[in-house]
Amino acid sequence: MQQSIGRSNDVTLSTIWERLDAQAGRAATRPLMALFEDRGRAAAFSVRFAGQSAAAAATDAEEMLFDFSKTNIDEETLELLIELAIAAGVQARRDAMFAGRRINETEGRAVLHSALRNPEGKVALDGRDVMPGLRETLLRMRGFAREIRGGGICGQGGPITDVVNIGIGGSDLGPAMACLALAPYHDGPRCHFISNVDGADAADTLRGLDPETTLVIVASKTFTTIETMTNAETVRGWMAARVSEPGAQFVALSSALEKTADFGIAPERVFGFEDWVGGRYSVWGPIGLSLMIAIGPERFDEFLAGGAAMDAHFRSAPLRANLPVLLALVGIWHAQVQGHATRAVLPYDQRLARLPAYLQQLEMESNGKSVTMSGQAVSRPTGPVVWGEPGTNGQHAFYQLIHQGTQIVPCEFLVAARGHEPELARHHRLLLANVLAQSKALMEGRGIEAARAIAAKAGFQGDELERQARHRVFPGNRPSTTLIYPQLTPRMLGQIVALYEHRVFTEGVILGINSFDQWGVELGKELANSLEPLLAGGPRSETLDGSTAQLLDFIAAAG
Ligand code: F6P
Repeated sequence: MQQSIGRSNDVTLSTIWERLDAQAGRAATRPLMALFEDRGRAAAFSVRFAGQSAAAAATDAEEMLFDFSKTNIDEETLELLIELAIAAGVQARRDAMFAGRRINETEGRAVLHSALRNPEGKVALDGRDVMPGLRETLLRMRGFAREIRGGGICGQGGPITDVVNIGIGGSDLGPAMACLALAPYHDGPRCHFISNVDGADAADTLRGLDPETTLVIVASKTFTTIETMTNAETVRGWMAARVSEPGAQFVALSSALEKTADFGIAPERVFGFEDWVGGRYSVWGPIGLSLMIAIGPERFDEFLAGGAAMDAHFRSAPLRANLPVLLALVGIWHAQVQGHATRAVLPYDQRLARLPAYLQQLEMESNGKSVTMSGQAVSRPTGPVVWGEPGTNGQHAFYQLIHQGTQIVPCEFLVAARGHEPELARHHRLLLANVLAQSKALMEGRGIEAARAIAAKAGFQGDELERQARHRVFPGNRPSTTLIYPQLTPRMLGQIVALYEHRVFTEGVILGINSFDQWGVELGKELANSLEPLLAGGPRSETLDGSTAQLLDFIAAAG
């Protein structure tokens, strides 16, 4: 067991947590604006990441800026947070992860998804070089993607026009998020995604597609997931009605080679990966095939290179200048020290519309745990609830609560300095103005005097003026961070995704939990299996609870 790699004892860790609690007590009465009396605050509480060598950065504007100055973290707090990261063993565990040690200790697996984005790197697992197999699969993926894009491999009715990826969780969210994010780079067939076992998903997606020119990708690491296998059978039936050899238009992305063969997919159409690639970390490998087909292998390589650049930074930058570590420490400060239960991810980037959903799985499936690696109850709350929508849409929906509600929601804004539509420059200017306005409004708020002046200007007087003014007060002091990048390119997306992966890892190490298992999804799966026969009219056990029985009765009565 490796539970304690680099981790200090509990007494040392509790002392640091207690000192952080004391910092939070002091911060509670300190206006965020007061911190900006230090003219150097914005630069000091920000980190820039060029993503490549300094020489290349001078000619290639790929630098991103993470600004966490609008949080109530001061230098002393930051030093303590870094002390916490060191005491928790972040560096030692990080090195163990990259070295291929089995840090996913409940499943006995290594965590090596980073190898997928560094195919020329060297990684050994238990003394075995894992890179030749990985490179061979990547080469096959590239060859296949080129053939599909170039018409070398066709459907029964001609060149492939549409690709349907069937998968769920990590076998869906990564490619679905990335395909939308990189829409300006699409020059291959259109991509579609079916994930939900709700037949509506398959029905609506297939409507309008031609089976004779559609390629179907069944993406499932285990090839047992009920939603995916049910959808795969349905889509095979849809195709078989028009195509004489449907298997020829099917591809599998899976580690379960016997099961893909049983499904009738030829071995040369199966792209496998090993158990050291977790589902929610798998977009970098075969699970990313739909993305590779959409944008082409060269741009997919840029996506990988962005991720690899973030890996190199995470492994080598000092903690005080380490982007994933700082993002994690801000998260720990808000969720575990200040006790804010949720975290909003707010991309001012319509093409990152699926990023909040992607991060929900990444963060909540990874860090939504109650016991530590050694099986003890955790001493602090773990992963916060992650949610969000793209700006500016969210502004016209839930920002009311963020500005004036009783709960504090730390906000994480993301935005590109440049859009992809130069002819729509005004749109982008407005987008930028809005994201800057939101973080400023959250920080500054609006006091009662300013609110009274507004109410007076609107013609209110006396008691009514006072009443109206109170509704126009904004408490302010609400924390936010902004991640700004030049443009959402494949490389930049790679950097962003790897940044969040390492953030989740760092938070998990600090909390002492295993971020790489997901036992919490099992019980529901088991119960669904046992309830399906009851929906088909099967006998019910006497011990079935009353609520479930009533719901079954309702369903039966509705026919
Ligand atoms: O929801 C649990 C889970 O195992 C996820 O971790 C995973 O991404 C998803 O199901 C899909 O699994 P598979 O790729 O094996 O179908």
